[in-house]
Amino acid sequence: MRVVLIGAGNVAHHLGSVIIRNGHRVIQVYNRTQSSAKKLSSILSCDFTTKVPEIDRTGELYIIALKDDAISEFIKSLTFSPKLIVHTSGSCSIDVFPKELNGGVLYPLQTFSKANKRTPSVIPFCIEARDRKSLSVIRKFSRSLSDMVYEKTSEEREKIHLCAVIVNNFTNHLFTLSEKILSSEQTAFDILRPLIMETALKVQDGKPSMMQTGPARRGDSKIIKEHLALLNKYPGIKKIYKTISDSIASEYDVKL
Ligand SMILES: NC(=O)c1ccc[n+]([C@@H]2O[C@H](COP(=O)([O-])OP(=O)(O)OC[C@H]3O[C@@H](n4cnc5c(N)ncnc54)[C@H](OP(=O)(O)O)[C@@H]3O)[C@@H](O)[C@H]2O)c1
Repeated sequence: MRVVLIGAGNVAHHLGSVIIRNGHRVIQVYNRTQSSAKKLSSILSCDFTTKVPEIDRTGELYIIALKDDAISEFIKSLTFSPKLIVHTSGSCSIDVFPKELNGGVLYPLQTFSKANKRTPSVIPFCIEARDRKSLSVIRKFSRSLSDMVYEKTSEEREKIHLCAVIVNNFTNHLFTLSEKILSSEQTAFDILRPLIMETALKVQDGKPSMMQTGPARRGDSKIIKEHLALLNKYPGIKKIYKTISDSIASEYDVKL
């Protein structure tokens, strides 16, 4: 397909490469900031623009990968009706597109950072459209990129996105906090990498609830008290530690 990418951030960057790798063409990148538009267009070997009226009208699919809050404004600023236009947001409803536009959703359920040079090898997609014809085009396109394509309503997708935030964004934040504690003790974060890897690997083989370990799961109150004392100099982390420990204990009916 002839694809126009709207945005030049994390998602546009990685999705653009996946699109090209699977035999489609990115014909143009639009972004409000020239430097990132230019950089992405040079990676994808295509044209770029920073002006909405100059967006190429010959595309078959327009993919909006903008910050969620900017999607609606962008759609309002369009000066033509694209053949098919989708956004990549987990929580933005399909209703952000006015009825007269042929709008849909192509939500890649993965984590993308420009800082990560490796594009994720498996990208599940949650797709949605208002009519069968558009859904069929989005389905065919997403199936050309991935074996994992799910048709989900906006309401279903919002709940999936909520869980994605918990398992990915929150987990990564806990990594960041751990790095902070370790670096104040002159220990490199590397010591934790095998544990992080194993934590992610073992939930591939069973329910996460079967894999829980640690002092809160065992009811080792003495260790928890000692950890909380160590965290006195990090009140924010202490609060998170206590909240999560209480949650684990209550899940397994353990008394702390
Ligand atoms: N990152 C992920 O892991 C991930 C995964 C799945 C879905 N998504 C979804 O994909 C979309 C893009 O996420 P992202 O992580 O790629 O975001 P990002 O890296 O922060 O990029 C944001 C893009 O939006 C543009 N933008 C920001 N504010 C704007 C405004 N006020 N007006 C116009 N454009 C604006 C930025 O342009 P400038 O370069 O000019 O700032 C940039 O092109 C979001 O809907 C997000 O929920 C993200």
